[in-house]
Amino acid sequence: MQVRVVADQPWDVKADVLAVPLLGQPDLSGALAELDRRSGGEIRALAEFGELKGKRFKAILTAAGELGAGRLLLVLGGDPVALDREAVIRIAASAERRLGGRAVKRLAVWLAPLAEQLEDGIDAVAELVTRGVVQGSYDPATIYREGYTDAPPALDELILVAPGEDASRLGRLAERGRIMGEGANLARTLANRSANDVTPEVLAEEAWSLAEKHDLWVDVIGPDKAAELGMGLFLSVGKGSDNPPRMIVMRSGRAGERDSLGRHLAIVGKGVCFDSGGISIKPSDRMDEMKMDKTGACTVIAAAATVARLAPGTPLLAVAPAVENMPGSHSTRPGDIVKALNGKRVDITNTDAEGRLILADALTYAEQLGATHLVDVATLTGAVARALGDLMSGAFGTPDDFVGEVFAAGRRAGERFWQLPLVDEYAEDMRDSWYGDVVNFSRNNDGGLVKSALFIREFVTKPWVHLDIAGTAYFRKATPFAPRGATGASHATLVELALAGVKA
Ligand code: BES
Ligand code: MN
Ligand code: ZN
Repeated sequence: MQVRVVADQPWDVKADVLAVPLLGQPDLSGALAELDRRSGGEIRALAEFGELKGKRFKAILTAAGELGAGRLLLVLGGDPVALDREAVIRIAASAERRLGGRAVKRLAVWLAPLAEQLEDGIDAVAELVTRGVVQGSYDPATIYREGYTDAPPALDELILVAPGEDASRLGRLAERGRIMGEGANLARTLANRSANDVTPEVLAEEAWSLAEKHDLWVDVIGPDKAAELGMGLFLSVGKGSDNPPRMIVMRSGRAGERDSLGRHLAIVGKGVCFDSGGISIKPSDRMDEMKMDKTGACTVIAAAATVARLAPGTPLLAVAPAVENMPGSHSTRPGDIVKALNGKRVDITNTDAEGRLILADALTYAEQLGATHLVDVATLTGAVARALGDLMSGAFGTPDDFVGEVFAAGRRAGERFWQLPLVDEYAEDMRDSWYGDVVNFSRNNDGGLVKSALFIREFVTKPWVHLDIAGTAYFRKATPFAPRGATGASHATLVELALAGVKA
């Protein structure tokens, strides 16, 4: 897909479809009135008919009259004061998704209605609309099925309609949006692929080929080397499966190299290719969803590739522990005491609390490789989904300065996080073990969400943020802006965070 920025008026643009965002009650004055007039009064007629009511992100496809475009697509953007960066992405994605199964090659989007409302103006809109269209074109139905014809159209050209603006500046920003969107879609495909397809070995091969393609350093650690290094927790989760574990490490820049903020940032993602629960086996209801439990790993792998595309050489370490959590005669048993890479003895009281175990060793390893700042991303707890739903991720971390930097990156990325507290007193419950230093699951599961983060905190010594994306990583139902399945949540935030340290 090519992106072209044009200074034409929206009624003059030649395209298959012209998308027009409508915020609030459409005000038929100025340029929108002219567009309405040339469309043969289509917009006014639809408003009077009651068609322009409804939920945010609803899109109405209608005739274009004398417009240069073949059809007009009106996208409801909701309350103008509620328009934020995330909404801009979703409006654009909804426009593209509404065209599923249609023969559309050239989609034009009129940016002004969004740019007038969004605080960050036209520059942000050019980037975010492009990213939204790219993300809106994503459909996992095409991963395994052949001849699927209802997918959103593969565009030859996205035309950003921006009269009176600097086309070359907006073009560069749109390119950034395109690469961000493609990165999110890459994370989504890796995450959506099923567990009989993507084993830890396959995920490692995918990471390897991305590293070669984007000139990243890569290392894949198998069970023998992991045992030599002392990654007891990582191995304890993977040993119940015939598909051996892989600790995947990717790096842009040199070993230990600091970025312009003095950081050697590491992003660490949970890669449980299937989470049956292990011996503490899960109920069968919705167990199929646990193929998505590798989403954190897929996200950090894709984010490393995206950073390499946008700003090659930016210092960044990505670590993705990949395992399959299965029951069997080789599995870890509840009550097993295992030595972590950092030397702590962990009493594994519940084998279904496995994400924190592999993250613990991965975070220690990232520190051994020189990380000064750590962000982990994981589908860690059902509790975060119950608390915050599928539109808001949970975040824990320390110190507040670094949490603030991650939240600022989230704002730039158009992603939502809610900070949750590390309640120190609850850590006592996590130390309530007969023989170990720490348990991975407290019998008193009150505050279990907080305790999951407190467990991870036992294994970090540097500024650290933990993002729990168990609610946001995938949608159980399609929305106007995204299909069922992986959403790409937190990919853009990680990329923005890394790019904050780009050397001038
Ligand atoms: N992968 C799950 C968390 C999860 C649940 C992600 C639902 C997405 C949707 C995690 O490994 C897990 O099993 N968590 C347990 C923790 C418990 C054993 C302390 C949970 O949430 O029940
Ligand atoms: Mn689990
Ligand atoms: Zn899990």
